[in-house]
Amino acid sequence: MSVAAAAAAACALPRKESLPPPPPPPPVVRAMMRRRRPSEEERGGEEAGEGQRWDGDAPLGTERRPRDPRQPRLPPTDAKEGEEEERLERDHFRRIINAFRYYGINMHERVNRTERQFRSLPANQQKLLPQFLPHLDKIRKCIDHNQGILQSIVKDCTNMFENKEYGDDGNGKITPASTFDMDKLKSTLKQFVRDWSETGKPERDSCYQPIINEIVKNFPKDRWDLSKVNILVPGAGLGRLAWEIAMLGYTCQGNEWSLFMLFSSNFVLNRCCETNSYKLYPWIHQFSNNKKSADQIQPIYFPDVDPHSLPPGANFSMTAGDFQEIYSECNIWDCIATCFFIDTAHNVIDYIDTIWKILKPGGIWINLGPLLYHFENLANELSIELSYEDIKNVMLQYGFHIEVENESVLTTYTVNDLSMMKYYYECVMFVVRKPENSN
Ligand SMILES: C[S@@+](CC[C@H](N)C(=O)[O-])C[C@H]1O[C@@H](n2cnc3c(N)ncnc32)[C@H](O)[C@@H]1O
Repeated sequence: MSVAAAAAAACALPRKESLPPPPPPPPVVRAMMRRRRPSEEERGGEEAGEGQRWDGDAPLGTERRPRDPRQPRLPPTDAKEGEEEERLERDHFRRIINAFRYYGINMHERVNRTERQFRSLPANQQKLLPQFLPHLDKIRKCIDHNQGILQSIVKDCTNMFENKEYGDDGNGKITPASTFDMDKLKSTLKQFVRDWSETGKPERDSCYQPIINEIVKNFPKDRWDLSKVNILVPGAGLGRLAWEIAMLGYTCQGNEWSLFMLFSSNFVLNRCCETNSYKLYPWIHQFSNNKKSADQIQPIYFPDVDPHSLPPGANFSMTAGDFQEIYSECNIWDCIATCFFIDTAHNVIDYIDTIWKILKPGGIWINLGPLLYHFENLANELSIELSYEDIKNVMLQYGFHIEVENESVLTTYTVNDLSMMKYYYECVMFVVRKPENSN
C-alpha cells in the first residue's frame, strides 16, 4: 500500500465519537477590580518586600522609585492622566502574566547552572554521585509540570474581573522577568500549600482556626442571621480563610492587592472543583537544607476541598485593590479579620485608622500575625515599625476595647516540613471591639 493509500485508509477508520468538553463549573466568586490606579511599587516594577515572609530566602531591599505614602493617591485629574493610569495598569497586568510564563525558562537556567557546575568537578568526584544528574532531570520534569499549571492559571485571566477586561495579555510573547517577580511567583506556589492542600492543614489550624473560633463565638447562629454578618478579610492571599468563613454562612469578602495572588485564587476558586485533582512541586526551588534529594521533588495536591461546595446562597466575594484605598465607607463591617497582614503597612496607624472607620459600632477586629514589617529594609519607603506594645496603645487611644489577647500563638508560614530550616512565628492574636456608642 502506498503511503497516500495508507493515510486514506487510516482516515476511513471509524473514529471514536469525540464528546464536547463538559461545561466549566459556574464561578464561585469573580473578583471585582476596585483598584483606582497602580501603586508606585507596581509602576516601578516591584512590590512590597513580602519576599521576606513569603520566602525566607528571597533577596530583599530592591530599590524602587519612592512614593510618599503620606500623600493620598488622588483620582486622575484629566482624561490624559486617566489614560496614562490605564496604560500603567495594563502594563502591570501583562508584566505579571509574563512572569508566570517565564517561570520555566528561569528555572531551567537554574538547573542548567547546577549541571554545569557538577560537570566541572573532577571525574572521580562526579563518579561518587551517580544519582546527581538523574535527580536534576527529575527536577526538570517538575519544572515543566509547574509551568503547565502556571500557564493554566494565566489562561483567560484577562476576563477574570467582573467589571474590568484586559483585552490582550501580551499574546504569549515571553520576556525575561525580574528576580523579584520570580521570587514572588515561587512564593505564590508555596501559598498553594498553605491554603489549598492537605499538607497545609496544620498551618491553617494554627493561623486560621483561632480566627474562625472567635468569629463563631462572637456571632453564634442562634443569635445572628449569619448571612447578615458582614466580614472583611484584607490581604486575603489565596482566599482560604475568607472561603472558610463564607462556608459557615457568613457574608465574607476577601480583599487582595497582588495579581500573583489574585490570578492564583481565581484559578483555585473558579476553575478547580475535583478535590486533589492538581499537583504542584512547590519545593523544587529549594536547593539547600534538603535531607534527601527526593524531598526537593515532593508534590502537593490541591485543592484539598471542592471550592464549589459553598452552601447555596453563600455570600462570598473578592475585591482587587489596595485595602486602604478601596474601603472608605464608614460603619459597614461587623467584623474585620486580619491574618499575617498588619505588618504589610507603610504605617500601621493608617490601617488601624481605616479599620476603626469602616467597622460598625459594636463590630470587632480579629488579628493574628507577627510584626515583620514589609517595608523595613527598603530605603526609599516609609516604614513605621511599631512594637506590639505601641500598636496596643494606639488602638486603645482610638477607643478600641481589648477583649482577647494572646501574645504567644506559635505558627508557621508556608513551612516546608521536610526542610532542615524552618521559621516559626510567635504571633500576637487579639480581638478588639469598637464600642457601640462610638461613631
Ligand atoms: C503575608 S500575606 C498573608 C496572606 C493571607 N492572609 C495568609 O495568611 O496566608 C499578606 C498579603 O497581604 C496582601 N497585601 C499587602 N498589602 C495590601 C494592601 N494594601 N491591600 C490589600 N492586600 C494587601 C499581600 O499581597 C499578601 O497577599
